[in-house]
Amino acid sequence: MENVTFMMIKPDAVENGFIGNIIEKITSAGFKFKALKLTHLSKKNAEEFYKVHKDQSFYDDLVKFISRSPIVVAVLEKENAVSDFRTLIGSTNPDDAAEGTIRRLYGKSKGENAIHGSDSEENAQLETSFHFSGFDIY
Ligand code: GTP
Ligand code: MG
Repeated sequence: MENVTFMMIKPDAVENGFIGNIIEKITSAGFKFKALKLTHLSKKNAEEFYKVHKDQSFYDDLVKFISRSPIVVAVLEKENAVSDFRTLIGSTNPDDAAEGTIRRLYGKSKGENAIHGSDSEENAQLETSFHFSGFDIY
């Protein structure tokens, strides 16, 4: 369980044709894909997925953004998957993200920042269950 994380390629990156580049970065960094799909969240499901942020000022913008067009979701396996993946994607704001990170390379702004990675093992499990019913690695 500590070797698994969940990720989402966000609408901006899918719209801009970066799915292939991002998957290549993830594979090169040593992550193995355990589950992968293209999907499109309804507004209702977007509200549910991001409910931890419901009191934030940016919540409405976030829900609108994440449901506006398709996303790619995946479960990834690697030693220290959660923290290593957060390092690979970089800081929330692409302008602050380290050189070579996915958000630095492909993100546009703090809101439209190309990719999501779970911030804990518990959330990795919750987010995986949300998108992959019957997924049984846990
Ligand atoms: P995730 O991996 O997507 O969860 O990003 P994070 O953990 O680096 O950031 P956080 O959980 O704090 O915020 C979740 C998402 O909300 C971010 O990735 C952004 O897409 C969005 N977000 C955060 N802050 C802002 C903001 O100030 N404005 C807008 N429009 N969106 C924001
Ligand atoms: Mg987060």
